Amino acid sequence: MRLSQCHNFHDFRKLAKQRLPGPIFNYIDGGADDEITLRRNSAAFDSCDLIPRVLAGVDKVDTSVEVLGHKLAVPFYCSPTALQRLFHHQGERAVAGAAEKFGTLFGVSTLGTVDMRDIARDFNTPQVYQFYFHKDRGLNRAMMESAKESGIDTIMLTVDTIIGGNRERDLRTGFSIPMRLNLKGIYEFVSNPMWGINYLLHEKFSMPQLDAHINFDGGAVSIGKYLTDMLDQSMDWDDVAEMVEFWGGKFCLKGVMSAEDAKRAVDIGCNGIVVSNHGGRQLDGSRSPFDHLTEVVDAAGSDLDVLFDSGVQRGTHVLKALAIGAKAVGLGRGYLYPLAAAGQPGVERALGLMKAEVERDMKLMGVTQLCQLTRDHLRFR
Ligand SMILES: Cc1cc2nc3c(=O)[nH]c(=O)nc-3n(C[C@H](O)[C@H](O)[C@H](O)COP(=O)(O)O)c2cc1C
Repeated sequence: MRLSQCHNFHDFRKLAKQRLPGPIFNYIDGGADDEITLRRNSAAFDSCDLIPRVLAGVDKVDTSVEVLGHKLAVPFYCSPTALQRLFHHQGERAVAGAAEKFGTLFGVSTLGTVDMRDIARDFNTPQVYQFYFHKDRGLNRAMMESAKESGIDTIMLTVDTIIGGNRERDLRTGFSIPMRLNLKGIYEFVSNPMWGINYLLHEKFSMPQLDAHINFDGGAVSIGKYLTDMLDQSMDWDDVAEMVEFWGGKFCLKGVMSAEDAKRAVDIGCNGIVVSNHGGRQLDGSRSPFDHLTEVVDAAGSDLDVLFDSGVQRGTHVLKALAIGAKAVGLGRGYLYPLAAAGQPGVERALGLMKAEVERDMKLMGVTQLCQLTRDHLRFR
């Protein structure tokens, strides 16, 4: 299979599976426990039908949106994800380059594999810094200072990972950082030499946001264990209110799922929330963000921007979330499989296909601007 044969999410997933060693593919692909929430995230969109309008004069459509003070040329963005240079040697640079080309926002993770300062310097497109709140408060402040110095204007604090989700695929393969694998995992790497050659020939793996502060050489840790051991489980609303004040720029909470929490985010001065369940990787059995979006949007009102992610695979998914009231929609696996499949050209192809779907679907829906989409365009079964 080649990149030119990838026409949708499932094709990219298939190609990524061919190109990646099993443990890495499963790290991207997997969810928590029985993966019920992971499956529901995408299936939820099928419970909602679009009601198109006709004869609306749709020869020109405008796909832009405004979110967190930025104008994006498309209503979708690349949500922050960990360890991207493990998926493809170009890693975060490929994602930033593709996001820049499509005029959209992307996030660099605390667990990113390229220095957020380099990315902020080299790419001219809105960038958010995804933040994990560590037990070490000095480390938290140092990370915020370094984001400020690099000119990043938005912190996206992830609040749904107070403890690592139970990702059993990773337990089976032994996936960890730095990589230590069980026998089956080693076999998978040996049987995938191209990935191994690229990994060895390119810049040594590192996590620059953390390397100065945390020593990972003391032994391999699973991502779940990192989240559980290093992050501060006592984090509460007062801590975040303090962060919002210390940061002084735009502040967004990622992983808000309840109406009450959306209101509290408004109260402590947040500019945005992302309605997300981390792509089904944390609390299995939790409600899908799409099923719950209406409630959260109504609670948040117009006091902050509601962003949305988890399960998005199609242009119609993006339009459905916007019609309910989301301001922009995040992709996770939707750009990670393309990254693994083919680096920057892969991510560009995926974003290009998504843009084409959004444009076509807007025309079929009879709208020329995304703000024309309302709940009247939807019916839930
Ligand atoms: C492999 C992988 C790594 C991720 N790493 C992070 C991370 O470091 N920080 C974070 O806030 N979210 C992380 N996420 C969650 C994404 O930002 C996003 O919420 C999720 O992938 C959306 O669901 P989707 O994959 O169904 O689109 C990760 C997701 C995946 C699949």
